[in-house]
Amino acid sequence: MAVDLLLGLQWGDEGKGKIVDVLTKNYDIIARFQGGPNAGHTLEFDGIKHVLRTIPSGIFHNKSVNVIGNGVVIDPVVFVKELEGLKPFNIDYKSKLLISRKAHLILPTHRLLDAASEAAKGKAKIGSTLKGIGPTYMDKTGRNGIRVGDIEMDGWKEKYRALADKHESLIYFYKVDIQYDLDEMEKEFFEAIEILKSLKFIDSEEYLRDAIKKGKSILAEGAQGSLLDIDFGTYPYVTSSNTTAAGACTGLGIAPTMIKEVYGIFKAYTTRVGSGPFPTELLDDVGAKMAKIGNEFGAVTGRPRRCGWLDLVALKYTCAINGVTQLMMMKSDVLSGFDSLKICTAYNYKGDIIKHLPYTIEEEYVTPIYTEMKGWKQDLTKMSDTAQFPQELNDYIHFLEKELEIAIKIISVGPDRTQTILR
Ligand code: GDP
Ligand code: IMO
Ligand code: MG
Repeated sequence: MAVDLLLGLQWGDEGKGKIVDVLTKNYDIIARFQGGPNAGHTLEFDGIKHVLRTIPSGIFHNKSVNVIGNGVVIDPVVFVKELEGLKPFNIDYKSKLLISRKAHLILPTHRLLDAASEAAKGKAKIGSTLKGIGPTYMDKTGRNGIRVGDIEMDGWKEKYRALADKHESLIYFYKVDIQYDLDEMEKEFFEAIEILKSLKFIDSEEYLRDAIKKGKSILAEGAQGSLLDIDFGTYPYVTSSNTTAAGACTGLGIAPTMIKEVYGIFKAYTTRVGSGPFPTELLDDVGAKMAKIGNEFGAVTGRPRRCGWLDLVALKYTCAINGVTQLMMMKSDVLSGFDSLKICTAYNYKGDIIKHLPYTIEEEYVTPIYTEMKGWKQDLTKMSDTAQFPQELNDYIHFLEKELEIAIKIISVGPDRTQTILR
């Protein structure tokens, strides 16, 4: 048995939560490998919508176990709210949700530092979700972090105090006006820590290795998207973890040789929340129409998502970085009703026509070059079989498959679990 991997190929919000939920029936274990509560993974079924932040998207299935891996950063306060959201569904999370001792904790002062850092950047801000992600990963790589396993040990509160005090002096150093009541934040934090402690902590690398030996199947769930990867994304407008395939190895302790399928998820168009370059962005009525039909508002912050045409230059790059073996196209229904559809197939980069992602894709250097295709009018949301697809949609799919040289195995035609068509 092996590990399959599912990750976003764009700037996040591709629909990872929905597809993990759909695929969970095929797996014994679902394991989140990076990111934290900056993620908002939406699942819809039986007329109810759920947004998960740190908890893997397999949690609503009785059969599977859900693991929060060492690569994830956990905010106990957000996590406890997530658990409360699960209560009406009678989920036995004490046995079905396991947490790596090596996962790092987001402290209240990490959130404050995130806010101070962004405020100090002014116009150059990253557009962070302000969940403390950057500062927590900085403390991880700086070897100062506090991990889940620490809260089982004596003396961790002294370590906490020293770190929080250091953070407070750093906040002062930013010289920005950030109002906060740390006593109140810490009260909430330590209460949440007690609830967190009632869950099962594991040495997840050991647990997963053992599971593989026993023939269990594992689906690794990514957060964010490949273009937000700390190394390969549109730096510095990225998140602070490796969102790409390699992040699953380091974020779970899984050997690369164990990985079999790499499912790459993309929207039939492109969206981005926060700052940073976006060559195919549409600042006109067409973009506004996509945002409206696609209900493009961030699941975490509620911010409007920027919308634009599909960018095959970027998609080819992320397929290659991740070694994608199967593609899944999401939100195809949103493109119904456009007379024509554009697909970016190359860039004009400083006067040269190129087909690879250059060092920078800032607007002043890059102009997208498009292929135009005929749109379709039919509503896809009630379709259940590819035989019902309009010819123009088939043409769109075939064009992408030819360019990307990877099969598109799932077409999603709506937010609900059932609106998923296999090819
Ligand atoms: P994730 O972060 O990758 O899990 O994606 P998000 O949940 O942040 O954003 C995806 C949004 O699109 C959610 O509101 C989903 O309910 C919705 N969604 C997912 N697939 C489809 C689809 O095929 N069509 C439509 N219209 N909405 C979808
Ligand atoms: P999911 O898992 C979309 C973006 C933020 C910002 C940048 C850095 O739901 O796809 P951070 O809070 O990490 O410091 O923000 O990354 N971002 C996301 N955009 N989906 C996400 O997660 C995101 N997580 C972070 O908007 O531009
Ligand atoms: Mg999301």
